[in-house]
Amino acid sequence: MVAQNSAQVLVASNRGPVSYALHEDGSIGSRRGGGGLVSGLSAVEDKVWVCAALGDGDREAVRRGVSEPGVRMLDIDPAVHADAYNGIANSVLWFVHHMLYQTPVEPVFDAGFRRQWAAYEAYNRAFAEALAEEAEPGAAVLVQDYHLTLAPGMLRELREDLRIGHFSHTPWAPVDYFRLLPDDIGEQVLRGVLGADRAAFLTRRWADSFTECCTRILGGTGRTRIGVHGLGADADFLRRRSREADVDTWVATLREQVGADRKTIVRVDRTELSKNIVRGLHAFRSLLEERPEWRERVVHVAFAYPSRQDLAVYRDYTAEVQRVADDINATYGTAGWTPVLLRVDDDFARSLAAYRLADVALVNPIRDGMNLVAKEVPVVSDHGCALVLSREAGAYEEMGEDAIVVNPYDVTATAAALHEALTMGGDERAGRTKRLADAATALPPQQWFLDQLEALRS
Ligand code: G6P
Repeated sequence: MVAQNSAQVLVASNRGPVSYALHEDGSIGSRRGGGGLVSGLSAVEDKVWVCAALGDGDREAVRRGVSEPGVRMLDIDPAVHADAYNGIANSVLWFVHHMLYQTPVEPVFDAGFRRQWAAYEAYNRAFAEALAEEAEPGAAVLVQDYHLTLAPGMLRELREDLRIGHFSHTPWAPVDYFRLLPDDIGEQVLRGVLGADRAAFLTRRWADSFTECCTRILGGTGRTRIGVHGLGADADFLRRRSREADVDTWVATLREQVGADRKTIVRVDRTELSKNIVRGLHAFRSLLEERPEWRERVVHVAFAYPSRQDLAVYRDYTAEVQRVADDINATYGTAGWTPVLLRVDDDFARSLAAYRLADVALVNPIRDGMNLVAKEVPVVSDHGCALVLSREAGAYEEMGEDAIVVNPYDVTATAAALHEALTMGGDERAGRTKRLADAATALPPQQWFLDQLEALRS
């Protein structure tokens, strides 16, 4: 296929900035995505975004030649994409970097894994070839995340002239955990990323883990430079969007559902194993059990949006979240008080409303590349919000000082932290929220992206 766009700046990621839906009448509708990369890239004019077609709507759009300027969607064979995305990226690499395996029984790297790995290679090669076609001489190419660890090395072989960057939005596994991967596969992943001129991460900690993997397994990082860019919240957008009418309406609705005099502990996540939602619920239960004075006086507002429901372990986890929430409500709830307000349908305006209302935000992941919820809440908060934050979230590096920091596995300590957060004085809370918001917005998405581009070109 010939180049459709051609540009000086290219970005590659599995999920692109736009998705398509096929309507019943046969027409195709498009929807813009959000997130740090989308806002980050809005600062750049001459660019091409290479991404995968993810569903039937996307594939139909590609077939009909429906596209947006500057976006090239790759129609990868659905079976290949499923093996690469669900099989390798989400069930192996995501699990390794977030340390999610139940190691006595998993992972098992057998013939099925090898077949999926071949799909992951083919998927990465499709990206490398498309990038090689679209890139102008000497262009900068920014390859994103664990879906595309091999693409930088493959692209380097096709195009010597390009400046290639790779950015990891996840943690990077400590070397002893990374070595769960079969030796040849681990080496291939590292060499793939090292095909880039520059490999960048959200925090120093993840960058150091990557460097240690390279040093111990390959003997070094070669000529690849290592960088750190801590993506911040988009303050202008959040402040504006969170004051729009639909969010105001949600604030009133949630306030009524919670009860006027009650405090709120808010969490908003994808229903994602690494987010530690179940232990968070156990901590809330422990708070009600150990400190009965909080009964009737606090509501845990938990928004847990569906994610990766093709994978059985995510479906099971979603069911477990629901079960534990129901159990807490059955045990402690009264006629006028529902302790846990769990919502599982995705609604951005309602999330912003919850951020505004929150007295306490609970962000307790097992491991997390950054965690933008921790950064968004203090920016949007109406009256100051205490942050209970896992020390295993990337955001901890920048926000640890003004948060109440917890070990995410320690339910008792998390319950105590929730109590401390609920009882924090108004002045202290306001002061901390202000400093948290400053730290959270230090590197807005556009600058985050431009910094990477500049570092890659220098
Ligand atoms: C989170 C992670 C990203 C990852 C994305 C994929 O946002 O922080 O590193 O790329 O999930 O999510 P998806 O829904 O596309 O599987």
